[in-house]
Amino acid sequence: MNMNSIYRFQPEGVKTECRFREDLASVMLHVYGGGSTPRGRGGRGGRGRGGGGFKGGKTVVIEPHRHEGVFIARGKEDALVTLNLVPGSEGENGEKIEYRVWNPFRSKLAAAILGGVDQIHMPPGSKVLYLGAASGTTVSHVADVVGPEGLVYAVEFSHRSGRDLINVAKKRTNIIPIIEDARHPHKYRMLVGMVDTIFADVAQPDQARIVSLNAQYFLKNGGHFVISIKANSTAQPEAVFASEVKKLIADKLKPQEQITLEPYERDHAVVVGVYRPPPKKAT
Ligand SMILES: C[S@@+](CC[C@H](N)C(=O)[O-])C[C@H]1O[C@@H](n2cnc3c(N)ncnc32)[C@H](O)[C@@H]1O
Repeated sequence: MNMNSIYRFQPEGVKTECRFREDLASVMLHVYGGGSTPRGRGGRGGRGRGGGGFKGGKTVVIEPHRHEGVFIARGKEDALVTLNLVPGSEGENGEKIEYRVWNPFRSKLAAAILGGVDQIHMPPGSKVLYLGAASGTTVSHVADVVGPEGLVYAVEFSHRSGRDLINVAKKRTNIIPIIEDARHPHKYRMLVGMVDTIFADVAQPDQARIVSLNAQYFLKNGGHFVISIKANSTAQPEAVFASEVKKLIADKLKPQEQITLEPYERDHAVVVGVYRPPPKKAT
């Protein structure tokens, strides 16, 4: 199994370790009851990349992850989960509390969290511009994380994926689907307000430029970015990551942390940083 590497541009914070087995699948985990550590039944069925289902066992305990809005379901095995904004089923007493397993083999953000990324900058109530939303899998988890007071502007240019994204947004009213090319933010400037964080996963060679363009329109000063970078097959991944970081810095996007996504994704890194940070006060 490959190990991931973490590089902090400004070392800070403490990492938590979390184990995750490859055979955990994207299944629904229903947890009934209230309290900070609700106990309930484990998930059933479901198959995802890596095979097998979530083996929660008889008792599953939900613990808050150090990233606000993210949780860990501890059962026979551990899984990363989010609190479902639109729970499908009712508990025995009519409560509707449901956690959804967040599969790191299908979501680079989940892979980064399990890899120990220090910050995701998406606390409950925050506004996120998500570039490269695809059919809305990760977007739906980000919507759970920012919660009912938060907002996710989700941009996707493929009409096919966009149809699924729109269906996801019909149920989750804190998602605003935008079927447009992220290279042309002026086309959706009327739909998007200022945001706290830009998350980008467009898998394009000009991704740094795309993020920079969107930051100029929508990212507040001192806001953050979280970018998944895919190395192309022709160059060494580290060289590709370094070249993207250089482009970000040139556009006032200051990287603070970089993490590779093994064992969940090969040749991918996530870079987290700050946009136009306010000048440090002289002491
Ligand atoms: C790697 S996939 C994203 C997966 C998604 N983030 C998830 O975790 O579920 C990249 C997506 O970016 C979209 N994309 C690529 N270039 C784009 C652009 N210029 N504007 C908008 N979307 C783009 C692709 O259509 C594709 O759906």
